[in-house]
Amino acid sequence: MKIVTIGRGSIGGGLARLWREAGHDVDELGRDGGDVSDADVVLVAVPGDQVSPALAKVSGLAGKTAIDATNVFPARAGDAPSNAEEVKSVTGGPVAKSFNMNYASLFDRVREQRVRPSNWYVADDEAVEVTETLIRDAGYEPVRVGDLSRARDFEGAVWLLLGATPPGGVFYRFAAPGEL
Ligand SMILES: NC(=O)c1ccc[n+]([C@@H]2O[C@H](COP(=O)([O-])OP(=O)(O)OC[C@H]3O[C@@H](n4cnc5c(N)ncnc54)[C@H](OP(=O)(O)O)[C@@H]3O)[C@@H](O)[C@H]2O)c1
Repeated sequence: MKIVTIGRGSIGGGLARLWREAGHDVDELGRDGGDVSDADVVLVAVPGDQVSPALAKVSGLAGKTAIDATNVFPARAGDAPSNAEEVKSVTGGPVAKSFNMNYASLFDRVREQRVRPSNWYVADDEAVEVTETLIRDAGYEPVRVGDLSRARDFEGAVWLLLGATPPGGVFYRFAAPGEL
């Protein structure tokens, strides 16, 4: 898959490395932006109050499938109900929200776990297949917790993860009986 990350920091750069290891072709854009015309999917991984300014510097976004990994830090910006819907207002294509509930500091330890850690996400139906593929290719097990109408709730639920996190970060896992 051809992937472009918008943001190349802890999340964008970290996922770029994991996806390259899985055989994908990944380009990384920084704050100067660039062109994503040849991408199959784009990842949005910039500060949560910089979504629209960041996307304004990127060409070729129309209709693209996008995965929004941002969180609402330091504060919610703009008029959209959620950062994910802010992305959708620019791209007009299918959108997922994923990786915002996973710690970039643990990316280099994902593949050494006994079972795959979970990755909660919400998504438009049309974004489910590509999102689940890229979650698995990063080493996680996808858990869809809703469609994009739940994006604001999902962004607001990050306190659950932060509240349960010991020093150094945490993985989480949802499992059917017998899987643990
Ligand atoms: N770190 C985590 O564990 C974690 C976990 C879940 C979600 N998140 C969320 O993921 C997003 C990225 O976090 P991060 O930790 O990867 O941040 P980071 O390491 O600080 O990287 C931020 C990236 O965004 C770019 N950027 C900053 N301001 C920008 C602007 N005005 N316009 C365009 N690009 C801009 C930077 O560009 P340059 O490369 O040019 O400096 C950089 O590539 C945030 O929304 C954060 O809340 C982070």
